[in-house]
Amino acid sequence: MTTKIVFLPGDGVGPEVIGAAEAVLAKVSEQEGFSYAAEHHAFGGAAIDSHGDPFPTETRAACLAADAVILGAVGGPKWAGGSVRPEQGLLAMRSELGTFANLRPATIMPGLEALSPLRPERVTGCDLLIVRELTGGLYFGDREEGSEAALDTCRYSRDEVERIARIAFDAARGRRGKLTSVDKANVLATSRLWRSVVDDMATDYPDVTLDHMLVDAAAMRLVSAPTDFDVILTENLFGDILSDQASAVAGSIGLAPSASLGSGKGGIFEPIHGSAPDIAGQGKANPVGTILSLAMALRHSLDQEAAAVRIETAVSKALADGHGTFDLGCSDSTKEMTAAICERL
Ligand code: NAI
Ligand code: MG
Repeated sequence: MTTKIVFLPGDGVGPEVIGAAEAVLAKVSEQEGFSYAAEHHAFGGAAIDSHGDPFPTETRAACLAADAVILGAVGGPKWAGGSVRPEQGLLAMRSELGTFANLRPATIMPGLEALSPLRPERVTGCDLLIVRELTGGLYFGDREEGSEAALDTCRYSRDEVERIARIAFDAARGRRGKLTSVDKANVLATSRLWRSVVDDMATDYPDVTLDHMLVDAAAMRLVSAPTDFDVILTENLFGDILSDQASAVAGSIGLAPSASLGSGKGGIFEPIHGSAPDIAGQGKANPVGTILSLAMALRHSLDQEAAAVRIETAVSKALADGHGTFDLGCSDSTKEMTAAICERL
């Protein structure tokens, strides 16, 4: 059966960075000798404009049938005040595809310590993975909108915590064997449940060293001692915030990839940045986060480990050779950066 890859360019810089990932995929598939069928569908603000719906029926059907979904970004001021928002499409997609596990690596590539805003000696060897719960918590709780008062609710069940914690424990087992579960158990009931479920599971993983950290302390340690972390397990909101912070520690939000996985083989792969309206359409966006997300798709969902490694190596080489976009203090355009990576595949 032909591998089916669905590209959702979305809004803002989304189409620019998706174009970069497609160029890399075209070359690497030739080199590694595999074929695929690519489809493109409207999503987010672009889909509100064309279909009146951020996650139209045909996009939904294509995503459900895909081996992997590669997403650019959605959102922007154009749709901010409307009754339907692009981000609703994002939440609907994650929920309908059942992608409850969001993996966000933050790695300092050897020789590229200078990209970090932190002192090189603080970040040398930094290699951490944030495992963020993606389909529960505050982002999916009951809401009441209001101009004088408003309400968001946070709910987690034991099952929801268990399935994400299992992914984090397994990831830690395959890495350096250290798991830090981040919560706010001194205040939140959901965090106290979270902590007790994770503790219960630790007996299945005697080879993993587990510790718990409050989210405020974790935010501090992420900048004061990022190399202390191996795998960080956390809930939806905390993971959203800490992973942006971790990406900045590793150099730029433009470098950071992510994979959102469910219980099946498919997944959604996207850079962690948003639609970057301030630079959209200028050919300046850093394509690396999206290109590394493609590598994660090839590894996790498409059985193409060699192609994934080839991409990651080419990205490291291009950066080590001094290539980079403006967010890294360099002057390559999106297309020049993509070409530099393709040359090194
Ligand atoms: P953002 O991530 O789009 O931008 C934050 C800053 O990082 C901006 O200064 C931007 O220029 C820069 N940046 C982002 N991506 C970059 C890249 N590839 N290369 C170089 N610089 C880059 O976050 P912001 O501005 O808070 O949100 C803009 C819109 O994106 C909002 O509508 C938001 O809801 C949406 N959003 C969408 C996400 C998604 O599609 N998964 C995730 C985060 C935000
Ligand atoms: Mg975010």
